[in-house]
Amino acid sequence: MRIDIITVLPELLRSPFEASILKRAIDKGLVEVHLHNLRDYSTNKHKNVDDYQFGGGAGMVMMVEPIDACISKLKSEREYDEVIYMTPDGETLNQGIANQMSLLKNIIILCGHYKGVDQRVRDHFITREISIGDFVLSGGELAAAVLSDAIIRLIPGVLSNETSALTDSFQDNLLSPPIYTRPSEYKGWKVPDVLLSGNFGKIDQWREDKALEHTKNRRPDLLED
Ligand code: ADE
Repeated sequence: MRIDIITVLPELLRSPFEASILKRAIDKGLVEVHLHNLRDYSTNKHKNVDDYQFGGGAGMVMMVEPIDACISKLKSEREYDEVIYMTPDGETLNQGIANQMSLLKNIIILCGHYKGVDQRVRDHFITREISIGDFVLSGGELAAAVLSDAIIRLIPGVLSNETSALTDSFQDNLLSPPIYTRPSEYKGWKVPDVLLSGNFGKIDQWREDKALEHTKNRRPDLLED
């Protein structure tokens, strides 16, 4: 998979891809992540990529020309499955969307900044708009890092034990059951006996029951359909 991220702040997006699982996925050649500085596509001598709003109003707007130049260049080099815009008024990211996107070959992610992008960008280039939740960040960069992480860890071969993605919270609309490691007793706090029993049938049943109980308590909405 290849992810091209268009941003005015590429420095904000370097470190997430330089450590842990995302770095390993890149090193293994399972994903390529390319950062594009929108300023490099500015069409004026001051390297501006934003301008005042028509009609007045506070906040600058990202201009259509540099975004067109960057997206058009990328599209002339390969085909893209989606051109995604990170924005708080997009559809809210969930595990289902991450699963779908992990199957795509090439995607572009555009990070909004300032007040957002000129509506013509959304009308003519963007194929999907994604929010990471009902709150407003200073820009789309951290949201793009969140989306990329959620997608990349699901690409086959990225996690060393593929079942570990299959047992994540949300994967079956259920939250994960509690987990424990050594020691089996600490300050009198005991790990449930069943997990030490070696009876894997019973352990699976316990985990299923706990996952359901936890989901009912915390996120009953996940069980509604
Ligand atoms: N940009 C600013 N806030 C955002 C959010 N919540 N999700 C996606 N992009 C954003």
